[in-house]
Amino acid sequence: MRQIRKIEIKDKSTVLSLEHKIFKDPWSETLIKEQLTNESSINLYYLKDNMVCGYVLSHNYLDFMEIQRIGVLREFRGENIGTKLLEYIESLCCELGIKKISLEVRESNENAIKTYNNFGFKVDSVRKKYYKKCPEDAILMSKSLS
Ligand SMILES: CC(C)(COP(=O)(O)OP(=O)(O)OC[C@H]1O[C@@H](n2cnc3c(N)ncnc32)[C@H](O)[C@@H]1OP(=O)(O)O)[C@@H](O)C(=O)NCCC(=O)NCCS
Repeated sequence: MRQIRKIEIKDKSTVLSLEHKIFKDPWSETLIKEQLTNESSINLYYLKDNMVCGYVLSHNYLDFMEIQRIGVLREFRGENIGTKLLEYIESLCCELGIKKISLEVRESNENAIKTYNNFGFKVDSVRKKYYKKCPEDAILMSKSLS
């Protein structure tokens, strides 16, 4: 059985563990705590047979939603989980009257860029040497919602 559910503050250590498994530049425990307690954030898990296999952390800045983190455990990638999480965020944005979803991605992150392109994100701009850890340009992308 597959389901998407809200991440609670009690899930902090699970998010920390996912961050370390998925990202080279994992968020700190403090940052995760701030994210999970921020009232303007929407944070979701994707579960398969009650096992967490992906998650998304996002923040609502009045008229747009920013995807801050999206990750799927390696063994579950390519199963549409990232896309399902984006679809869920999009449906919540529509309910809340939010007209745009934005994000930034490393230019070398081909799988993520493919996922976002497939989902309808367009490139807005490039921020040179945006990432300080493992220096790289960031591609800023967004999707307008009707
Ligand atoms: C980016 C990410 C969240 C996508 O999640 P996902 O569940 O694998 O994505 P989906 O299954 O919805 O795939 C969408 C597309 O990406 C492709 N894809 C992405 N990652 C893939 C992988 N590891 N293996 C196979 N296909 C992959 C799929 O082929 C699919 O495209 P297609 O249908 O045209 O073939 C996931 O690759 C990930 O966690 N990456 C590491 C963390 C990361 O880089 N996060 C984004 C930071 S901006």
